[in-house]
Amino acid sequence: MSFPKDFTWGAAAAAYQIEGAWNLDGRGPSVWDVFSQTPGKVFENHTGNVACDHYHRWREDVELMGELGIKAYRLSLSWSRILPEGTGAVKEAGLKFYDDLIDSLLAAGIQPWVTLFHWDLPQALQGKGGFMNPDMVDWFGNYAAVVAKRLGARVNHWMTINEPPVILGSGYQDGMFAPGLKESYENCLSAAHILLKSHGRAVQVLRAHCQGPQQISIAHTSREPIPATDSAEDIEAARGRYFRCVEERMWNLAWWADPIVLGNYPEEGLKNFEKDLPTITDADMALISEPIDYLAYNCYSGSKVQAGPDGKAELSPEGWGIGNPRGTLPWLNIAPDAIYWAARWQTERYKLPIVFAENGFCNTDFVHLDGKAHDPQRIDFMTRYLTAVSRAITDGADVQGYFYWSILDNFEWAEGYKDRFGLGHVDYQTQVRTPKDSFYWYRDLIQRGGTLV
Ligand code: NOJ
Repeated sequence: MSFPKDFTWGAAAAAYQIEGAWNLDGRGPSVWDVFSQTPGKVFENHTGNVACDHYHRWREDVELMGELGIKAYRLSLSWSRILPEGTGAVKEAGLKFYDDLIDSLLAAGIQPWVTLFHWDLPQALQGKGGFMNPDMVDWFGNYAAVVAKRLGARVNHWMTINEPPVILGSGYQDGMFAPGLKESYENCLSAAHILLKSHGRAVQVLRAHCQGPQQISIAHTSREPIPATDSAEDIEAARGRYFRCVEERMWNLAWWADPIVLGNYPEEGLKNFEKDLPTITDADMALISEPIDYLAYNCYSGSKVQAGPDGKAELSPEGWGIGNPRGTLPWLNIAPDAIYWAARWQTERYKLPIVFAENGFCNTDFVHLDGKAHDPQRIDFMTRYLTAVSRAITDGADVQGYFYWSILDNFEWAEGYKDRFGLGHVDYQTQVRTPKDSFYWYRDLIQRGGTLV
């Protein structure tokens, strides 16, 4: 496998999943504080109150990243650490935390890639309806302005929002994630429209207020349909399925990405979801389609599909693959072709370079008797997925970067601390970090510029 010289090798994490210090230095509560502190919502009632205590241990964590040799670190900002109420008074301590972290990353030669919003909406804004409230566009824009003015000379890579399908699908539609709502499809589509406009406003604001050059995107995700065979029919069926708008669900790549990049909601969705659509104006679409610079995509898994008698995709008998290799989360089927086809089809449809903003494997890793955290399955996973990325590049996809999820084990949302994704093992009792075997493997791979030995 081989990669371009200037390929961005990175690792990622998100504020609520690692920072802890949930109520220190004036931070306001977010929807995830409220949700995780409500008994019964998260596995064994775990919360992000302490998490990896990154708020206090960030120096050590940046050192670890330096040792890993990543060129870029994807972090998110806790909105309610900066604006405890979501709008209004700014907390200097919050901004200072990110100031120092970013300075120290830059000093270590690591580019900060900043996500403005990775699910931890200030609770005060949820109290006003969250994404159901059209004022969100201004709230998010104002927050983006505060951040851009302060960090915009040093941060050049941005993502506005992480994984809209999860924010609304899991948070507003099926209620499994914060804020735990079960809204009608009509309300979800309206919230989706407001979310897309909020993204557009943030793009405008970042361009207006950052003092350096900017590369801006939004991190999408979906589950890939993978062609069961190399036949042209199966490939065509899977590609068609990838961008279809059929089910009344928020997990739909084209519904999110087409408006942003192509300037229109997909025709098929407009037809199928007609009775539930919000009012959509030309001005809305102009805002939503503010140009972005690259596609950011979180890719984990997929399932095999084949062409049915009508040429349309159907789950292949292998489908999800009973007994297939997988991680400890039920949806994490090991399917490296998912990343190959995501790269091919997205760059082909949207004609922008793509960066994998997340890809990772979860397990029940622990520190072995020899004091080391052995994780051969993660190394195998990364080898398979990175080989697939390299193949996509050879086949013409403009893939510019890869961020392993995650730099450390952390709070895996409703799964709590049960599933470990990290390159660094975290002992949650002592907060000791132990680099796993995959950490050293990835370090060496980066050093060699991405070639396998
Ligand atoms: C998606 C999310 O962005 C991240 O927060 C999560 O931990 C990983 N994928 C793994 O589920």
